Amino acid sequence: MSFIFFTSIIILFGIIIFIYRFLLLPKIRLIQIKRKYGDKIKIIHHYGPGLLVEYKKSYIQNKDSLNFLRHMANQNGNNIQAYAFNIGASVGYSFVDPELIKLVHQNHDAFQKIDVSQAIAYLFSNSLLLATGKNWQKQRQFLGKSFHYDEIKNYFPSIKEICLQVSDRIRDELIKNPNKEIKVVKTCEQITSEVVFKAFFGSTSENILINTDDEGSVPISQELVSIIVDSFRILQHNKLLQLKSQLLKRKTFDIFPLKEETKLLNRLIQLKQTCKNIVLKRQQELILDPSACKKNFLDLYLKEMIQNVNNEITIEEIIDNFCALFFAGTDTTGNMTGAALYFLSLNPSIQQEAREEAMQIIKQKTDSSEIKGLQFEDLAKFDLINSILKESLRLVPPASGVFPRISNKDIKIGQFEVKKGDLVNTHFIYNQSNPQVFANQDQFNPYRWMKGKEQVNVFSFTPFSLGPRNCIGQHLAMIEGKCILINFLLNFDIIPIPSKEVHYDMKIIYGLNPDNLVYFRPRNN
Ligand code: HEM
Repeated sequence: MSFIFFTSIIILFGIIIFIYRFLLLPKIRLIQIKRKYGDKIKIIHHYGPGLLVEYKKSYIQNKDSLNFLRHMANQNGNNIQAYAFNIGASVGYSFVDPELIKLVHQNHDAFQKIDVSQAIAYLFSNSLLLATGKNWQKQRQFLGKSFHYDEIKNYFPSIKEICLQVSDRIRDELIKNPNKEIKVVKTCEQITSEVVFKAFFGSTSENILINTDDEGSVPISQELVSIIVDSFRILQHNKLLQLKSQLLKRKTFDIFPLKEETKLLNRLIQLKQTCKNIVLKRQQELILDPSACKKNFLDLYLKEMIQNVNNEITIEEIIDNFCALFFAGTDTTGNMTGAALYFLSLNPSIQQEAREEAMQIIKQKTDSSEIKGLQFEDLAKFDLINSILKESLRLVPPASGVFPRISNKDIKIGQFEVKKGDLVNTHFIYNQSNPQVFANQDQFNPYRWMKGKEQVNVFSFTPFSLGPRNCIGQHLAMIEGKCILINFLLNFDIIPIPSKEVHYDMKIIYGLNPDNLVYFRPRNN
């Protein structure tokens, strides 16, 4: 009797603590924040998943997960400097005022990126993406050398070659099915994933296969993308897993793993082991013949490991950085370029003008009107194509904000008092769709970016983030983007599919859904 009584008391006590900690406390904190900052802040509260519910609601009501942010400036008379939100038991600030965004990124050491999913923690823990302090500085310095504009020149021939292979493949497919619906993002990702793979390993991914559950096999790059997508999918749909992640953080795989977690973990282990085998094999080759070292990331890492005995590079760091660069560089650049193709399909006169720009610049030096004739030095001349990419990034920023952070200490951002343990984010899409900053904010108008036009406040257009932790791959992304657009414009007319209705979805990356939005009609220049 007394055992049952005490057990019931403990369970009741647990329920009360749970209700207070997960449901009441975040709500009370948000009410206090509203009282303190009034009009300067907007509150977004939902019990349980919090902000994630707002994304879902916005998507269902407006076919755009970030519609609430796009129109926040409009609806609040430009007064808003931040919005406060909850995710489970945690409360956070997302800053939207350009000066406050600047302050957050100047003080990057005060914040640490949170593990947004288990797969991300498992794949990237030792990489630049999640590193902090001295370790981050060391990695940024090492990797930074290979991302300088002049160094990217080394990857340029591969980028052109991969673009050509993909457009040749599409031409072949169109012979069989002229009305094939082209998936704009997926098509661009075939190029961007291969570029990162080649820049890292110096070879293509096609020959490196991973076994799948159904006893088939897929290229390693495909498996990496699919693991990340699956990890978010199971987290979104499984409430128990959401709660486990909130409570156990990185330990959720270790303690009472659910069936889906075990399956995901096995795939992750297999993927990392495959990468490790490649790295170790190459390490042996370079120990035997150091002169075989090439200008790809893997060889540069291994060269440093072999030549400098005091370096602190580990095999795990190399593997995690491959995963991180692949993740950070593939979907983002694919979405930017995919969105640009979609907007070009809707704007045939801009499309034709961009095509003429491409033909004219390439023909200045060669007889060719193919991407083969494109010179690296000429990339800076593509004013309209560069502006098309910028306008696509403004309207559909693949990274609509940064990875959520957690504050290491109490810190003031402007007048806002952020407490240790609060979540902190900066959301760029707010300024990028603010009519006070960009007239006719919803209109695709690349001309607003052309040389000689008045420049906007640099902190109002930050698709690659800002400060010391800005995007290390931004030059590579823009170069890839230009090559992809130039190549497709020269090879195809891009035609919209009128029956398609476009939605904007926030998955890991913000982008078009569905993406089978255009037809390609082959051109003979
Ligand atoms: C259109 C394409 C791209 C966009 C919009 C983009 C955007 C961003 C943003 C917003 C950040 C800051 C994230 C944060 O602080 O939470 C970032 C960081 C990063 N990006 Fe990109 N990115 C793109 C392409 C690339 C490419 C091509 C690569 C490399 C192949 C890359 C590698 C990275 C890395 C490693 C970081 C972390 C840097 C650090 O923490 O020091 N990105 N990117």
